[in-house]
Amino acid sequence: MKNVTIFDHPLIQHKLSILRDKNTSSKDFRELVSEIAMLMCYETTRDLPLEDVEIETPICKTTVKHLAGKKLAIVPILRAGLGMVDGVSRMIPSARIGHIGLYRDEKTMQPVEYFCKLPKDIDKRDVILVDPMLATGGSGIDAVNLIKQRNPRSIRFMCLIAAPEGIAAFSKAHPDVPIFCAALDEKLNENCYIVPGLGDAGDRIFGTK
Ligand code: PRP
Ligand code: URA
Repeated sequence: MKNVTIFDHPLIQHKLSILRDKNTSSKDFRELVSEIAMLMCYETTRDLPLEDVEIETPICKTTVKHLAGKKLAIVPILRAGLGMVDGVSRMIPSARIGHIGLYRDEKTMQPVEYFCKLPKDIDKRDVILVDPMLATGGSGIDAVNLIKQRNPRSIRFMCLIAAPEGIAAFSKAHPDVPIFCAALDEKLNENCYIVPGLGDAGDRIFGTK
């Protein structure tokens, strides 16, 4: 799994454990998703290029490092991906935000597209695609297909929990897109939910069940 990074940071693991608990309220769930996304952003952006910039401190002139270009786009997969946007955008406030609306058909488990609005200049940007769950991989694969049609500079996929089946399908479809996740779980159940997982991420974020 050379394209997959799994975060073992204790803060991320602790927050994820609370997230999995069925007794965690929607309010706490939303806050935790945002916090974990913020922490994951630190490592997900490790390879962003820097450039030298001349500044003057109160003491002397010096050369410091700035992010080169700062051309990023955050793209959540609706609905649940919305919960990760705030955490990432707080770390990268200059990033543009696109939206891709997909839901899994309850019978076929295939993703159905209902919305796609991406930044006009996405061809000049590095994209961070965000969605808490990578289950069968169908939604992530389709979202990347939509983004690739606009020729972005690069794409990386950030999720909270992945299933082995989803990682395999996604990596096969998009071997060029690195996956960053907070946990790799055991399997999918007969309804294609991640086991042990955290349940339905969208419903838990928005309190719709
Ligand atoms: C969830 C999740 C992913 C998708 C993952 O969304 O947020 O987008 O399922 O499953 P997959 O890897 O098998 O495609 P869902 O379809 O429940 O929509 P929602 O976020 O609007 O509730
Ligand atoms: N979508 C979810 O929200 N949870 C899962 O476990 C699988 C897909």
